[in-house]
Amino acid sequence: MTDAALGRPTTHANLDFFDDQHPPAGDFLRDVVSGLKRAPKTIPPVYFYDRKGSALFDQITEAQEYYVTRTELGLLDAIAPELAERAGHGAVVVEPGSGSSVKIRKLLDALGDPAGYVGLDISRDHLLDACADLKFDYPELSIGAVCGDFTSGLDLDHLPLPQGRRVVFFPGSTIGNFEPEAARSVLAGFRKGMRRGDAVLIGADRVKAAETLVAAYDDAAGITAQFNLNLLTRINRELDGTIPVEAFTHLSLWNTEKSRIEMHLETTRKVSFSIKGEHFEMEKGERLHTENSHKFTPQAFGKLAETAGFQITQSWSDADEFFTLYWLEPRWDA
Ligand code: TRP
Repeated sequence: MTDAALGRPTTHANLDFFDDQHPPAGDFLRDVVSGLKRAPKTIPPVYFYDRKGSALFDQITEAQEYYVTRTELGLLDAIAPELAERAGHGAVVVEPGSGSSVKIRKLLDALGDPAGYVGLDISRDHLLDACADLKFDYPELSIGAVCGDFTSGLDLDHLPLPQGRRVVFFPGSTIGNFEPEAARSVLAGFRKGMRRGDAVLIGADRVKAAETLVAAYDDAAGITAQFNLNLLTRINRELDGTIPVEAFTHLSLWNTEKSRIEMHLETTRKVSFSIKGEHFEMEKGERLHTENSHKFTPQAFGKLAETAGFQITQSWSDADEFFTLYWLEPRWDA
């Protein structure tokens, strides 16, 4: 089946394989209610990405203050020949959380003659759309999709992959959205099952002036604020919520001690609301914690990589040293 308007495949029929691991669906109601009962209150960031949230996120990546995406894209262009040399011929690119449609194309183009691509994502529709689009643009490439939870490791051995070096691509400083122990575990999950020569290409945002960091997560046009507040609108719509969204403001804070930007939603007055009949109250000035984005010095990132069983073979940064791409290889002494 093709979408006539776009000439794009709308099913996974064109993929070389599809492995559905049937990851358990998150329970939005249970997660929201349990998060609201915690002190301080939190909501897991996975729920940002409904249709509206995903569209707002795309807009964030284009906001002037949000340097992350354009810096990483510029880096990928600048180091394309070096990536080709590192990856060699016939590499198989594995992308956990496959969503970076522009970045993956830059990487595949940089590599010149990759042999395969595997997208891994928990969202089946999003995954199949992304992989089908990629197959449309790279018909010669063996392209497969795995619907699963990459935070529990990459299990690639049973897949019909081309021979060749596997390169796990994890851009966007997504690693920074995990707490330190979870970040180590995600990387250790990539490390498991790797063979000699396999590698990880990972993007990590760096520690820099607090005002630059805070502004990146609080753009003047208010897109990030809308993105954060959309979580409340979604709760109201999908979970019979009565949250007074207008009584919340978006907050972007730099936490020096934890080396991370935190996003919160703060009340401007005392509020009470219900979710599926369950009642909640928040004091004036109380915060709901919605996201973390850890920032790394090269030293801190090196340590994280090492504790996950990797060594940094090479790294590349932009001229401002805002963002770094690392080439990680397994440590065999570990
Ligand atoms: N990993 C990116 C970052 O931390 C993208 C991201 C995730 C993000 N959640 C976000 C950006 C919330 C803005 C707001 O920057």
